[in-house]
Amino acid sequence: MPLVAFVSPKGGVGKTTIAANVAALLAARGHDVIGLDLDPQNALRMHLGLSIRDEDGFASGLPRSGAWHASLRHTSYGLGILPHGSMEPRQALDLSRLLMDHPEVLADPVREMLTDPRRIVVVDTPPGPSPALSALLPLLDLAVVVLLADGGSASLIPQVADGRFLGRGTMAARVAERAAMVLNQVDLDQPLSAAVLDMAHDALGPRLLGVVARDPAVAEALADRRLPVEVAADRAAEDLSMLAEAVLGRLSLPRPNGATQSVLHQWGLRR
Ligand SMILES: Nc1ncnc2c1ncn2[C@@H]1O[C@H](COP(=O)(O)OP(=O)(O)OP(=O)(O)O)[C@@H](O)[C@H]1O
Ligand SMILES: [Mg+2]
Repeated sequence: MPLVAFVSPKGGVGKTTIAANVAALLAARGHDVIGLDLDPQNALRMHLGLSIRDEDGFASGLPRSGAWHASLRHTSYGLGILPHGSMEPRQALDLSRLLMDHPEVLADPVREMLTDPRRIVVVDTPPGPSPALSALLPLLDLAVVVLLADGGSASLIPQVADGRFLGRGTMAARVAERAAMVLNQVDLDQPLSAAVLDMAHDALGPRLLGVVARDPAVAEALADRRLPVEVAADRAAEDLSMLAEAVLGRLSLPRPNGATQSVLHQWGLRR
């Protein structure tokens, strides 16, 4: 039932990487997970091992109703994915306009996905505000804001803390109450990185949901078409595992059936 979105006022901060890994870890714990890609970059599918030749998608197929079942792809990580689908710039503009005028063309099928109480829908979003994210705001249980441990992100922490990054108005304020933050690419050997982590901790307290180390294995894993959590030696893998636990802790969910613990052991992660 829960809807979790990885969002950020900034691009290139690790939303897709973290969304893919958290979604796969939740599936490995036995949850019924759908990864939903709302970013026209259509990148979530690459992290989850889909063929790049498959260019169809759920978002690019809107407003066909009832089409999400047909767009659902199964991954070797035990979760389903609704790829965005590839689009020409003109089509992306048309889709944005459609979602601004008729947010229900996206909200209705997502609401249908969420009728299953065991299902978690994990959404990857484009950077900054988007009509797709706005369409789903009323349904969101958890907005995980991803920022980097650098100067540019540090200046945005106050906006995250008071919810301004989601826009103005009552709905944005309501979602801000359900927002938490992840600081990505933290390197404690770098004084600036450590200082940004301290600042985020002071500003957000328990709303700082997790911290992910900077680790070259993260980019290498993508090039290798594997997830960082599959690479046991990866420093970021344990951080991602702890983040998945923290996300679960924020959601009220029935216990999963038959968690696939063997996958976690295979990935070298404790449970
Ligand atoms: N913890 C990390 N350590 C090292 N590199 C990382 C880490 N997290 C992400 N990266 C790298 O940072 C780059 C951006 O990551 P990603 O594409 O997930 O960001 P994004 O926020 O989804 O970007 P966009 O805004 O374009 O959608 C990628 O090359 C990724 O491999
Ligand atoms: Mg992305």
